Amino acid sequence: MSRTPQADLVIVANRLPVDRVRLPDGTDSWRTSPGGLVTALEPVLRKNDGAWIGWPGSADEDEIEPFVEDGLSLVPVAMSSQEVEEFYEGFSNGTLWPLYHDVVAKPEFHREWWDSYVAVNQRFADRAATVAAEGATVWVQDYQLQLVPQMLREQRPDLRIGFYLHIPFPPAELFSQLPWRRQILEGLLGADLIGFQLPGAAANFVRLVRSRVGHKTHRDTIYLPDGRPVKATAFPISIDTAGFEELARSEATEKRAAEIREALGNPRKIFLGVDRLDYTKGIYSRLRAFGELVRDGELDVEDAVFVQVATPSRERVEQYRILRDEIEMLVGRINGDHGRIGSPAIHYLHSSFPREEMAAFYRAADIMVVTPFRDGMNLVAKEYVACRIHDDGALVLSEFAGAAAELRQAWLVNPYDIDGMKATLLEAYAADEKDSNRRMRAMRRTVTTHDVSKWADEFLTELAGLPEHHDKSVRRPARR
Ligand code: ADP
Ligand code: F6P
Repeated sequence: MSRTPQADLVIVANRLPVDRVRLPDGTDSWRTSPGGLVTALEPVLRKNDGAWIGWPGSADEDEIEPFVEDGLSLVPVAMSSQEVEEFYEGFSNGTLWPLYHDVVAKPEFHREWWDSYVAVNQRFADRAATVAAEGATVWVQDYQLQLVPQMLREQRPDLRIGFYLHIPFPPAELFSQLPWRRQILEGLLGADLIGFQLPGAAANFVRLVRSRVGHKTHRDTIYLPDGRPVKATAFPISIDTAGFEELARSEATEKRAAEIREALGNPRKIFLGVDRLDYTKGIYSRLRAFGELVRDGELDVEDAVFVQVATPSRERVEQYRILRDEIEMLVGRINGDHGRIGSPAIHYLHSSFPREEMAAFYRAADIMVVTPFRDGMNLVAKEYVACRIHDDGALVLSEFAGAAAELRQAWLVNPYDIDGMKATLLEAYAADEKDSNRRMRAMRRTVTTHDVSKWADEFLTELAGLPEHHDKSVRRPARR
């Protein structure tokens, strides 16, 4: 049996950065997990040399031993198929996900989902308690693990505990629907530092703690009854900008981008959408807007094509299944009505690609269309900007993506306003080169000066610099 590693920095996230996949010959292999959290944190762990605790992405009662994959020290946490259903698909993605994203879909509240959320959070906390070295820093990630900070502090008061929420934190009016609102707030308050994408989210949290839990607050700090301060503040996340840029500059990417263009029939302009197939991303409305422009003769399929790359996501959750059917029906309808032989209006790809291929898509695309109804940050928008090494290309960006607070020079849209979106897509299509260059240059400066390593350094430095709090009433239990 291999020894559990001891680490000075422990990242705790629902998913490991790799998912286990079973090959046809019965052996296992590992593949990069989907989503922005992994994109952002993988380079952070590489740089800081710690351990990552997470779920390997498939239902399995048996715990897999800690292992090293591609230089990263990984500690798997198992979940049974019932837990995958109740904790992951249920409470995490059927309750919290829609509730935290403006109730874009209706959240469901089930008591057995909550019980499973508590049980799985406890398992993650127990695992972190065994992996963290004396006085280590443990950085808990995202909405799936909001109870872990408190559960971990109860076992290991010697630790520095940080928490980062990758998705929005809703206003009190929506959050208050949650039957377990107080437990979630108290779970988070186990951390010393709680990071959010935007200042508004941090303010929502502080306000809720004051009104629902009754703790004293001053600006971004909450004072617990034992005097321990908890800081809640914004740290907008970013990407490995230099890494993406280097990829985009490579000859192989340039060649691949030219091949993609050629395969699309060398249109005048390529529109691109890249998202997990999620109802928060506004994929349906954006394709409708594009389809109407083609229908109305504003765009011609010989001149303009739309490539929509949709990563499969949460496929067993009903709302995601319905969304997939709706999008595929819409693509079929638009192509059936307006496509020509060899020139469909929309190229739809329902799959995951390696990072190299993503960079080639970004280089090939003239207009990147990112139109979520609500999104914590949206890293795709930043990746596109990082890959535009010649300062060209246009970013059409939803006002409701966290990225809109930084990428002010994008063509901003309200994704609920289809006519407004149509007008902006046309503006971006017809934009003059000088204007596009000016906007892209400014956005490139932003993502270059604020990359993911700066984000992580700022969070970890703040966490390390917080004054130590010694609570005499807590006796440290023996390490297990
Ligand atoms: P979210 O975290 O909600 O999925 P983000 O836009 O913040 O949204 O992050 C998505 C991440 O997943 C980005 O790093 C993007 O490059 C990656 N990604 C999205 N679609 C694909 C795909 N089809 N293949 C590979 N990576 C993808
Ligand atoms: O922050 C958004 C997020 O939920 C991350 O936690 C995760 O990396 C990503 O989306 C993908 O979601 P899932 O882990 O459910 O596939």
